[in-house]
Amino acid sequence: MSCPRCEKGSNRRSVLKEILRWAAALSGIALIHPLLRFSGYTIKPKPRYVKISAPLPRSGVHAERDFFLFAGPDRHTAWAVSRTCTHLGCRVNFLEDKQLIECPCHQSRFTPQGQRLAGPAQKNLPVFPVEVQLDENGGVTGYMVTV
Ligand code: FES
Repeated sequence: MSCPRCEKGSNRRSVLKEILRWAAALSGIALIHPLLRFSGYTIKPKPRYVKISAPLPRSGVHAERDFFLFAGPDRHTAWAVSRTCTHLGCRVNFLEDKQLIECPCHQSRFTPQGQRLAGPAQKNLPVFPVEVQLDENGGVTGYMVTV
């Protein structure tokens, strides 16, 4: 025979145990994240594919929110450069007349290939892989950028 008071106490204890178990699990997760960051371990985000249809503008430059797509004169060579400044993360602009990428925040400058030229940014702009898509006659139909 069971007493009702004992069952009530047992239920409270089991609920408290469950809450403590969840709190311990959440604390563990909260501690693991900074440890992983400190150790330099990063989880790579899934790549994002952006298709740019041909033809590109005459300048050979196409601006997206995250990157610039540059194409050579024959349009069969192309590269994509990040628009996020390596200094403090502002979105950079391409100055077509000077053939430079410039950051509006602190005027870091980069070549169209993303090489750092001047300014407080210490690193080059990241370059993203580009796949030139061709039709059966070898004409360019588009560009697939992996961001
Ligand atoms: S954020 Fe680009 S130069 Fe400072």
